[in-house]
Amino acid sequence: MNNLEKVCQFLQTAGTYYLATVEGDQPRVRPFGTALCYDGKLYIETGKAKSVSKQISANPKVEICAFDGGKWLRVSGELVNDDSREVKVAMLEQMPSLKAMYSPDDGNMQMLYFKNATATFSSFTEAPETLQF
Ligand SMILES: Cc1cc2nc3c(=O)[nH]c(=O)nc-3n(C[C@H](O)[C@H](O)[C@H](O)COP(=O)(O)O)c2cc1C
Repeated sequence: MNNLEKVCQFLQTAGTYYLATVEGDQPRVRPFGTALCYDGKLYIETGKAKSVSKQISANPKVEICAFDGGKWLRVSGELVNDDSREVKVAMLEQMPSLKAMYSPDDGNMQMLYFKNATATFSSFTEAPETLQF
């Protein structure tokens, strides 16, 4: 498994992670669950109508954190918008429950991938492991 796959698998197994954005000088954080490994990139999904999406377009620097099985993961980096239809379709195939809220042509569904990402796995018992992807 490469670095990207390790991170993606951890997020999928954890089920929920927390996505932090910046709005001016105010951090904003909320639960997220979408994670897709596609074309060598880690994608997450949101709606363009949401505040989180507006914060990311104003400042693409984000951090996510997830905890599972005694380990936690932080991923920091920048998110890049990808309007390609194929990646939206792949997301909906991986997580069919999203189809109740989004479709590839609704003008709202938004796929974002991590650029210049640094991921750190930590636990109370082992040294941290830092990966780039
Ligand atoms: C477990 C869980 C997972 C969620 N996953 C996502 C997700 O992947 N993408 C998304 O846009 N919203 C997701 N949401 C909803 C967002 O947390 C919610 O819309 C939030 O208000 C968005 O942040 P904002 O209010 O700053 O725009 C999830 C909510 C929960 C409870």
